[in-house]
Amino acid sequence: MKERMGISSAFYRIRSLVHTVPSVGLILGSGLGDFCDTLEDPVVIPFSDIPGFPVSTVEGHTGAFVFGRTQGKYVVALRGRIHYYEGYTPRQIVMPVRVMAKLGVKTLILTNAAGGVNPGWPAGTLMLMKDHINYSGMNPLIGPNLEDFGPRFPDMSDVYSRELREKLKPLAAAEGIRLDEGVYVMFSGPSYETPAEVRFARIMGGDAVGMSTVPEAIAARHCGLQVMGVSCITNLAAGMQATPLDHSEVVETANRVKAEFTRLLRLMIDIA
Ligand code: HPA
Repeated sequence: MKERMGISSAFYRIRSLVHTVPSVGLILGSGLGDFCDTLEDPVVIPFSDIPGFPVSTVEGHTGAFVFGRTQGKYVVALRGRIHYYEGYTPRQIVMPVRVMAKLGVKTLILTNAAGGVNPGWPAGTLMLMKDHINYSGMNPLIGPNLEDFGPRFPDMSDVYSRELREKLKPLAAAEGIRLDEGVYVMFSGPSYETPAEVRFARIMGGDAVGMSTVPEAIAARHCGLQVMGVSCITNLAAGMQATPLDHSEVVETANRVKAEFTRLLRLMIDIA
């Protein structure tokens, strides 16, 4: 099958170019993308160099794997996350996760920008994902099951490792980083949610809404990776603040919180 061959050929191509085995994978959302540039001894492999890999249609935004070392660990980071709203298929979105797993990654760290649904949280809050609600209408595991990756009906009762969350919380507190725990609800985007959808998300038990992360987390659990996820609440979700939503607000808050978020990311890598 084409997809399995794509994953395999990506694996062999990368193995011929990179000789370290990364134990941690990073897929970083708005604001944290530059973290890739802080890796030591980086090796960058653009998707365009990997046969069969989804290449972004937006010029200048070619995705890439960045391999390198940080805090004494070998890691691989994804530069230029692939979103469902860009028109990729759910299975394309998770190809990088599956390649990471084949390369030896054991723990996947996911971050994103999200709208706050929990009324107690101001913009700038960092939310440790304790669970998600997949309201995107898709699932990356739909279609033939890749048996060598995982089972047809994978368990999702501990997607965001409780054990790692319990390790992270006291470390964050000791560093003075406030970390709230919550449930992330994925909508497909790219339009922001309506106020009614946001109220619905809250009734469903959501604390944040966003357009990414869930497919990657599902694919990662399918193939047995441990997952940690953190959302930066960049704005209150639609209808919860007086002004309309604007992407520039998302970028502004993400930049404001970046230093603290990066410190938290380093703690996550330490315990991964
Ligand atoms: N909704 C969905 N995705 C987002 C938001 C939001 O309010 N803010 C940042 N990403």
